[in-house]
Amino acid sequence: MMHAALSIWILSAVICMGRGHHHIGHDDAASQDTSESSLSLVMSENKQFGISLYKKLAAHPSSEGKNVFFSPSSVSMALAALSVGARGETHSQLFSGLGYNSSLLTQADVDQAFQAILDRSNGTMNEDISEGTAVFVDNHFKARPEFLETLRQSYHAEGFNVDFAQSQDSANTINKYVEGKTNGKIDKLVESMDPSTVMYLISYIYYKGKWATPFDPKLTRDDEFAVDENTKVPVQMMNMEEMLDTYHDQAINTSVLHLPFNNSYSMLLLLPDDMAMLENAICPAHITKWMKWMKPRMHDVYVPKFSIKSSYLLNDVLKEMGMTAMFGDSADLSGIADGQKLAVSEVVHQATLDVDEGGATAAAATGIGITLLSLRFVPVMKFNRPFMVVITERNSENILFMGKIINPNI
Ligand SMILES: *[C@@H]1O[C@H](CO)[C@@H](O)[C@H](O)[C@H]1NC(C)=O
Ligand SMILES: *[C@@H]1O[C@H](CO)[C@@H](O)[C@H](O)[C@H]1NC(C)=O
Ligand SMILES: *[C@@H]1O[C@H](CO)[C@@H](O)[C@H](O)[C@H]1NC(C)=O
Ligand SMILES: *[C@@H]1O[C@H](CO)[C@@H](O)[C@H](O)[C@H]1NC(C)=O
Repeated sequence: MMHAALSIWILSAVICMGRGHHHIGHDDAASQDTSESSLSLVMSENKQFGISLYKKLAAHPSSEGKNVFFSPSSVSMALAALSVGARGETHSQLFSGLGYNSSLLTQADVDQAFQAILDRSNGTMNEDISEGTAVFVDNHFKARPEFLETLRQSYHAEGFNVDFAQSQDSANTINKYVEGKTNGKIDKLVESMDPSTVMYLISYIYYKGKWATPFDPKLTRDDEFAVDENTKVPVQMMNMEEMLDTYHDQAINTSVLHLPFNNSYSMLLLLPDDMAMLENAICPAHITKWMKWMKPRMHDVYVPKFSIKSSYLLNDVLKEMGMTAMFGDSADLSGIADGQKLAVSEVVHQATLDVDEGGATAAAATGIGITLLSLRFVPVMKFNRPFMVVITERNSENILFMGKIINPNI
């Protein structure tokens, strides 16, 4: 008994490792197909990048008192596509900023990994998820054909010619495209187009999932959500009492609820005692541990209905993450076009998340708990204060979306 208890404790202790420490997953890595191992390396670095970016966004002054929600997957993909055309210091900063170690991975490995990721999401024949990229090129600009070909092949990019001198028209063209790809969820990605733009790279992701076990709308009630100690806001609180996978991570005093969708995707809802502590501690190994150790048991859960939207200009956080050269005079994007001085003017990101009784839609949603007293003891888990959400694919643990709900009403 003692032994069993001890080994579980050891296995459930998570050590967050920094960059540069890689798990390929098998001892016989050498005998594995190298493209498989570089795929798993890219995927593991993408997870780490997503969590690092979350921490930067959450700590940014403009995020104070706001929900945080974004798609790590979409940001990695856009920056990886950009890195195809970057050279010199600009390339090495993008590469290491994304977490890729250039002594273990080449740009071609990264391109192939994204191709495999996109082939997989395109290949499942499901309409639940769509992701991809697009490149808008000015009529008068000559991009290198090999750059465009790599984007088309590896990043599933669609290419379009536009006239960026017509800044309103070109912004509209891009916004319409993104609106179409996200089923209307993101309808104004570009506010105003800099007329000196010659190329605009887009990555998009749309996900719509039905809960494997939906909430019963008849049980949804008006409730309250505690934004902080002094502020309560009204929410529509959904409720169900079911066998649900949960885990209590004592090391970081966080309760984890696993709500699977009716496909291979899942939402993880993380209810910490102390949000700052969770945000500080979380790393990809936690997700692996929770998925492995959570156990189905009867739970009475309360999750708010909500619909949120976020918008970011990522220039500053990317610079903080070491990707400075691409924004300045020293930018080297000569892989995109020869003999022209190119630099990145903006990296913008928007995301939306709608959660209701039937499921969740993310293109990038809370209550007063009317606790039904029952004679059986059923533990209650009520998301009526700030919590984090992660939408992940169960097998690869690819983090499609990640965020923090502080106030479901804004
Ligand atoms: C990159 O990988 C090499 C070889 O495994 C390792 O020695 C080095 O420390 C890694 N660099 C970073 C920045 O993680
Ligand atoms: C994605 O799948 C669809 C239908 O299976 C196919 O027509 C399309 O060419 C694929 N897209 C890419 C970029 O592979
Ligand atoms: C978790 O909560 C308990 C009880 O409130 C507290 O004693 C403990 O220090 C907390 N653990 C951490 C790691 O903060
Ligand atoms: C989930 O999928 C199963 C089969 O894949 C189907 O029988 C069931 O009706 C689906 N449930 C919902 C809520 O769509």
